[in-house]
Amino acid sequence: MYRTKTNGELRLTDVGCEVTLAGWVQRTRKMGGMTFVDLRDRYGITQIVFNNEINAELTEAANRLGREFVVQVEGTVAERQSKNPNMPTGEIEVIASGLRILSPSATPPFTIEDNTDGGDDLRMKYRYLDLRRNAVRANLELRHRMTILIRNFLDSRDFIEVETPILIGSTPEGARDFVVPSRMNPGQFYALPQSPQTLKQLLMVAGFDRYFQIAKCFRDEDLRADRQPEFTQIDCEMSFVDQEDVLEIFEDMARHLFKEIRGVDLPAKLRQMTWHDAMRLYGSDKPDLRFGMTFVELKDVLPQGKFAVVDDAAYVGGICVPGCADYSRKQLDELTNFVKRPQIGAKGLIYIKYNTDGTIKSSVDKFYDADDLLKVKQAMGANDGDLVLILSGDNANKTRVQLCSLRLEMGERLGLRDKNRFECLWIVDFPLFEWSDEEQRLMATHHPFTMPNPDDIPMLETAPERVRAMAYDFVCNGIEVGGGSLRIHDGELQEKMFEILGFTPERAMAQFDFLINAFKYGAPPHAGLAFGLDRFVSIMAGLDSIRDCIAFPKNNSGRDVMLDAPSAIAQEQLDELYIDLDNDRLRALKG
Ligand code: AMO
Repeated sequence: MYRTKTNGELRLTDVGCEVTLAGWVQRTRKMGGMTFVDLRDRYGITQIVFNNEINAELTEAANRLGREFVVQVEGTVAERQSKNPNMPTGEIEVIASGLRILSPSATPPFTIEDNTDGGDDLRMKYRYLDLRRNAVRANLELRHRMTILIRNFLDSRDFIEVETPILIGSTPEGARDFVVPSRMNPGQFYALPQSPQTLKQLLMVAGFDRYFQIAKCFRDEDLRADRQPEFTQIDCEMSFVDQEDVLEIFEDMARHLFKEIRGVDLPAKLRQMTWHDAMRLYGSDKPDLRFGMTFVELKDVLPQGKFAVVDDAAYVGGICVPGCADYSRKQLDELTNFVKRPQIGAKGLIYIKYNTDGTIKSSVDKFYDADDLLKVKQAMGANDGDLVLILSGDNANKTRVQLCSLRLEMGERLGLRDKNRFECLWIVDFPLFEWSDEEQRLMATHHPFTMPNPDDIPMLETAPERVRAMAYDFVCNGIEVGGGSLRIHDGELQEKMFEILGFTPERAMAQFDFLINAFKYGAPPHAGLAFGLDRFVSIMAGLDSIRDCIAFPKNNSGRDVMLDAPSAIAQEQLDELYIDLDNDRLRALKG
């Protein structure tokens, strides 16, 4: 037996027991004739004592142990003289009578401790060492627990887990596909699923009624803190349901998870906000409701003809920041620079300080008199002591998005984005289509199978941009955690959708003939949704990036620095696949 106990389980009640432990050497300390070794495994740390007076040879061997050596220790559990209340095993130690090195270790490139000295790149290159650290391991343990809870919950609601293939054709989720060449079908490529969307719809046609899958998805898109090229969805689909049925069941699932994992009770019924209201009040389709500062439109509040920036703007909106009228010149300059950053792109920032002594000081004193600014105060619902920040611009939606960044920044500065509070809601009534500047055409906001709101179907031909979708997103703390929709199950309506999206019948057939054909054989009304598992776990764990809850994540350039992937492949492999690389272009790219 390599071990009789783990390093996390010995307590005072075990004093006197003979044990065998195994694990990694966290650190060794020499004090007089004694050597203390902290032995670590997944379960915890146990202090091992080597006493020169009892066994000089063994103590000498312990002194030669390096960090991260894997050892086996035999000994007797004893009560510690100086107890450590900060560790579960802090009341005992093991007096060693035997030591065996199972595996030596090179000096690790960074310390395996909670506050490691390893930078991001180094930790990712040696991710297997990083994973030995408590915080990272705890995130993966949480992920495991959530997955079990999810599987059990969905099983208890009659969902069955079905695996769908990874090598498929293109799925239209709006990102670029990762493609895989097929040796047996020269010149042809599989696409990795952006999601199992079409396959789960086919499972509904097949009568499975309630499906789920903890599904790997792949999207070749630009990466951010909450995006990885390869990520995991809790992918679900149901038949014979309407929107409320779907929201209810997945609200229940979220409620169950928050309760079990964080001990938090979500409200009995989650709030539903229309996409339109979310954009109007928060400038975002994933509003962070942990704090207020909702937008107030001021274009009609400020008098015309006094300040061209406001007069000429399509949109003027403000937020009221409570208690910040005492912001200094320097702080206001910082905010102005913040909104002018290229990523945000505002031209400038208007501020009005409603001081606690009743005076008003603003960046537009030259243009507006006290009465004008008092009107703003009233419209904003501001009090003395508050700071009002205003952005204007010639594109209403763009300006709202800029004001959203400013609102989030103020929430951050004021410590209002508390990671231990959870504000979840549904965003509903998304527009069915959005205009793409790049493609100069209407695109499906979600995907082409999303059901239009039946009340808006007459507008499909006349004003498609005003048609609402039967689509919903689950948002928590400003993050889109899940999204889904009712699906079109009527062939004619689906054809109409393809037409509006600019698909010729031939192209629609070429890409989706399997789905269009399947729908001819009795498609039940169906709907579904997918949660992003990585995002869900990172919210529960209060992480800044989903990378921290993924065992082997990619970096911001989509690289796995540990495996050094992606990488070039051998010429024979390329030849076998009939692939010629355009080396001139590649050389030009590398400069
Ligand atoms: P959607 O594209 O909204 O919907 O994706 C669902 C959820 O998946 C997560 N997600 C991601 N997580 C990490 N990295 C990414 N690159 C990434 N992209 C998406 C998000 C998101 O809410 N087939 C539909 C679902 C449906 O209609 O049933 C779909 O994939 O948390």
